[in-house]
Amino acid sequence: MKFEIKHALKFIKHEEYNKAFKEAEEQLEVLKSGKGAGNDFLGWLELPNSMSLEDIKDLESTANKLRKLDAVVVIGIGGSYLGARAVISSLTPNFSKNKPEILFAGHNLNGNYHTELIEYLKDKDFGIIVISKSGTTTEPAIAFRLLYTEIKKRFAKDIVKERIVVITDANKGALRTLCNNEGFKNFIIPDNVGGRFSVLTPVGLLPIAVAGFDISKLINGASEAKDLCWNKSSENPALQYATIRNVLYSKNYKTELLVNYNQSLNYIAEWWKQLYGESEGKENKGIFPASASFTTDLHSLGQYIQQGERNIFETVLYVDDEQNAPIINLDKDNQDKLNYLAGKNMEFVNRKAFEGTLLAHTDGNVPNIIIEIEKINEKSIGFILYFFEIACAISGYMLGVNPFDQPGVEDYKRNMFRLLGKKV
Ligand code: PA5
Repeated sequence: MKFEIKHALKFIKHEEYNKAFKEAEEQLEVLKSGKGAGNDFLGWLELPNSMSLEDIKDLESTANKLRKLDAVVVIGIGGSYLGARAVISSLTPNFSKNKPEILFAGHNLNGNYHTELIEYLKDKDFGIIVISKSGTTTEPAIAFRLLYTEIKKRFAKDIVKERIVVITDANKGALRTLCNNEGFKNFIIPDNVGGRFSVLTPVGLLPIAVAGFDISKLINGASEAKDLCWNKSSENPALQYATIRNVLYSKNYKTELLVNYNQSLNYIAEWWKQLYGESEGKENKGIFPASASFTTDLHSLGQYIQQGERNIFETVLYVDDEQNAPIINLDKDNQDKLNYLAGKNMEFVNRKAFEGTLLAHTDGNVPNIIIEIEKINEKSIGFILYFFEIACAISGYMLGVNPFDQPGVEDYKRNMFRLLGKKV
């Protein structure tokens, strides 16, 4: 990963950067010492090194059993959904016919979606991974009830048992009770890891392994990021990122757009939005995390970014991967007037779009941070995930909030239970 900050530093004075960088270093030490706010939720910090070989083997052998099916439905929402979806969709080819097909449910309350899903599964051999830390969240609970009913109608009890895997708390919640009663294979979400930091636990790792990806490589990538991002060094990208975000925020840059030029990364942006939104958006503070996929969104959001309210900065995830791109061919008629590009790789054009946009946006007073990835694979994605997590924790501490709670989400859940008449 190459981390470039010069297009953001133009908007920041030297002294401002240095002062904030010192603060970032201090907050990294607070994080490492385990003495900061929310310190009972720091289990994610050590995940790249704490997973044993047996843990990985258990996940892989469970995944291999599910991989024999036509489809596996992963049920979960928020932190119990986005990490797996982000990694799987970044690594899966755009037009894949991979088996098993990985489908998602319980991440919304849309009736139509779930009716269509059940219909789609009618002639498929399918399994279910249900993920909920609390074991009581409404969306996944309803989806699981519907699909559990469906799978029981279709298969004998012993087959159903082999096709359901539960990932939940060790002791609490309705899902734990059901799992114990029915004897389903299960994995535990550690107490000290919050949902949005749980991608490197079974929450993310099992669905990722079922999709056929190498979870050891993902963990290795995260481990490399840990080695780099724990350093008190001016080259530590997590410290640089946390520093720049906080200085820009103090200068009224209140919206951060995570931009990609490769739509395989769209769900990485969804995961990132939850990570930063839930971690920093509290006590009437926090940068609003938004995202865009270019060049697609240059034809929709581009106008606003260039000339709308001046409170946006961009963090660009750019993948330097030309290997898989088609070459634009020479056409003797040249009716489309594209021969000036003949022989060029399509990604070359994408890069020029990136360079041109960078120039236009920084000229339009939009600071840019560039994160360049050589190739999308398990290792680079693992690196990016851990990098964003630790930078988020440092940045949240710099902002003066507890980055590990989510009292606002709890409010919504409580209100909905009341409106639905749930007895508590
Ligand atoms: O980050 C969080 O804590 C939330 O987004 C939760 O992950 C989400 O609400 C799902 O909760 P649970 O895993 O308890 O079903």
